[in-house]
Amino acid sequence: LPCYGARSFREGDLCNMPGITIVGSGSFAPGTPVTNDQLSRVMDTDDAWIQKRTGIKQRHFAAEGQGISDLAFEAAKRAIDNARIDPKEIDYIVMGTMTPDFVFPGSGGLLGAKLGIPGVPALDIRQQCVAMPFAFQVADGLVASGAAKTVLVIGGEAHAGFMPWEDWDLLYGDGSGPPPSEKAKERATRHRALAILFGDGAGALVMRKHEVPGHGLIGCEIHSDGNLAKQIYIEGGGFRRRPYWSPTMFEREEHIPAMQGKELFKSAVTKLPEVVRSICKKHGVALSDVDTFVAHQANDRINEAVRETLGIPKEKVPSNIARYGNTSGGTIAILMDELLREKRVKKGDLLCFLALGAGLHWGAALMRL
Ligand code: UT7
Repeated sequence: LPCYGARSFREGDLCNMPGITIVGSGSFAPGTPVTNDQLSRVMDTDDAWIQKRTGIKQRHFAAEGQGISDLAFEAAKRAIDNARIDPKEIDYIVMGTMTPDFVFPGSGGLLGAKLGIPGVPALDIRQQCVAMPFAFQVADGLVASGAAKTVLVIGGEAHAGFMPWEDWDLLYGDGSGPPPSEKAKERATRHRALAILFGDGAGALVMRKHEVPGHGLIGCEIHSDGNLAKQIYIEGGGFRRRPYWSPTMFEREEHIPAMQGKELFKSAVTKLPEVVRSICKKHGVALSDVDTFVAHQANDRINEAVRETLGIPKEKVPSNIARYGNTSGGTIAILMDELLREKRVKKGDLLCFLALGAGLHWGAALMRL
């Protein structure tokens, strides 16, 4: 078996060939943060409800005209700087976003152009909140196969375009402008369970093969189930329709994600502990061996439930959802950048990444830094 296959699939076997690791990180969140109180200017909601039910205090939004390739560019510059490499050393881009600048092409190539490395292959992956576990497996495969040495792995979102309000100016400043119309407020309120969750931002990781055998990415266990696609999805703009986009879809609010919040919550709190237990067993790792669980940040209550089910101490499951909300594909890379910069994770640490999101996709990855 080639090493890559062994590392990923052979039960309990840690291949000697090192996997990929993180040699530089960066993150970026646009503009000034919007607090829960500021959100309550455009819909019926309140800070106490949002904090209690999700742990979120504020989030950032991309400005009109600012695409994910712009946010990713800022994060990537910081990661390249942090890795102390020349952008020209990057020989592959793996970009995870569900909110690209255009319906097509994907945003990875736009990012490469902005970084001044046109011609470098850019692969866009669409795994929403699970972008990082998927991207790690893809990047590791690219390096193991010899197709790449230095992979720029990027995740991020510009969700602002699907938010259910139009009164953007009201959110900022002292909110002294005219209040939203009754119709606008009613619409935003109808989508409030979704609208309070998401924020914009990007995280970037420069990844290379680890130098020490048994280190770097140890394995990924990832799953997809299209039967559960309607737990969170966007109906509008799909190519089963002729034309794929129409004013009627906009009137039916099909540009705003439809979310079955409770079902999604249940999926997360059942599937995440399962996949964490399974990957650890597969690689002969005890849960207590893991130094830090780098979890997707969809809702603090989800991570709290997963933590309790697995009996993991609180300090091993860091959270930054209070400051960013759920940045979908960006979350794990942003959190990882913060943990590295604050030296809350260090060389030699065993990390377990875990995420579930639209698709549904879910999975976990083990990495020894
Ligand atoms: O990355 C994947 C993305 N998404 C997720 O993982 C989301 C998973 N789901 C969740 O996190 C939770 O289901 C939500 C946070 C979305 C919602 O929390 P919930 O505890 O499931 O609330 P709910 O939707 O059942 O609503 C409970 C009550 C309702 O009022 P009534 O009918 O009991 O009077 C809602 O109208 O809370 C109300 N509510 C709100 N109130 C104030 C819902 N959203 C809000 C809000 N502000 N933003």
